[in-house]
Order: sequence, then C-alpha cells, then structure tokens
Amino acid sequence: MKKSLSITPDLFAGDLSAPWVETIVDDAVVLRHFALEKEEALLAAIAGIAERVPFRNMRTPGGHTMSVAMTCCGEWGWVTDTSGYRYQASDPSSGRTWPEMPEIFRALAVAAATEAGYPGFEPDACLINRYQPGAKMGLHQDKDENDFAQPIVSVSLGVPATFQLGGARRRDRPVNTTLISGDVVVWGRSARLNYHGVLRLKPGQHLLTGDLRYNLTFRRAR
Ligand code: SIN
Ligand code: FE2
Repeated sequence: MKKSLSITPDLFAGDLSAPWVETIVDDAVVLRHFALEKEEALLAAIAGIAERVPFRNMRTPGGHTMSVAMTCCGEWGWVTDTSGYRYQASDPSSGRTWPEMPEIFRALAVAAATEAGYPGFEPDACLINRYQPGAKMGLHQDKDENDFAQPIVSVSLGVPATFQLGGARRRDRPVNTTLISGDVVVWGRSARLNYHGVLRLKPGQHLLTGDLRYNLTFRRAR
C-alpha cells in the first residue's frame, strides 16, 4: 500500500517542540531544547555584556592560557589567573563590577533548575564561555562555590559540542553527551562535584553564531 504523507490536524495536537528530559547520570539531566525559543534573545544579551566586559582568555593557576574565552555577569564573576580560581565582585582587568544578570538569564536558570527538581535556586553568578573551533575545557569540578546543595545550570548555544560528565573522582569514566543549541544541563546533589568538561569544538556552523559555541553557567557562588 502506498503511504501518503498527509499532514493531519492531529500532527499539531501534541507540542512537537516541547522540551524533554534525559538523565546523563544520577542527579544530572539534560533538558533538551529548553532554551531553544530564547536563543536569539540570549545571544543578544551576551553581545550586550561582551560590549561592556570583553571576552578574554584567562590564565590557569598553572600558567596555561585557556582556549575558552570568558566573561561574566551577576553579582559574582568567576576568574582565574596565576593566583588561583575564585569568585570576584569586580573584573580584575578593569576593577569595575560585572554587568547585572539580565532578567532573561535569571528567569531561564530558575525555570531550568525548578524543572530539574531544584525550586528556589537563585543564581548570583553567570560565567559566559565562548568556544571557537578547537577550543576545549578539560575535566574539572565546579567547587569554588559556598553551598554544594545548590545545583549548576548550564545552557548551550550555537555550534554543538560533546559534553563529558564523569563521577566524583577524576578517574571515573565520563559519559559523553552531544549538546546542541538550546539544551540545558542541570546537575546537583550526588552529581554536584562530578568532573565534567567539553571536548575540542569541531568546525561547524550555526545560523546565529557562525562557528562559535557559547555556554552560560549559572551558579550560586555565595
Ligand atoms: C563549564 O564547565 O564551565 C563549561 C561547560 C560547557 O561549556 O558546557
Ligand atoms: Fe564547570
């Protein structure tokens, strides 16, 4: 029998673009497509922040220059240089406070945290990462925050990347997950101190970002 491709009203009855949840490991989920409708507005907000606080490639305490360029907004900015990793209320390169966290950022982070089972999350720090082709982030823990009961909310925009989520020990074998623009990862509780990183960004193209990937990491620093 010949199958006809008919577009029935039924096809539109369910919300085909509704986000869905995938578990990576215990207490770590990807909210697929969660930020998809906000892509453009989020990228515009990033551009506004970067105009005031340009992306820069910071140095690790070990003296390596990071391949990922960073800027920050919110009460606290995450910075690194040869004197260590830390949160600072002001930008070390200008001495000025960070731009306020845009409401669209805050609302998205709160909604994602709530969806993942962390109602009451109030981020006070947003690290903005920019990956160009070839940039990567080695396995690390997010542990400069005061309260590990608060989750990490991480929003992907632009070119897809492979996110690695390991366990609490560096030697735990990581699970690889492809993150596309609009995906939001939330990890907390037993996964809060899990090692994670991003593999070298492959050349790619995204309608709104060209060959770049951006990531917003929301945290409660203090
Ligand atoms: C990070 O761990 O700060 C970045 C994660 C990502 O870029 O997806
Ligand atoms: Fe991290």
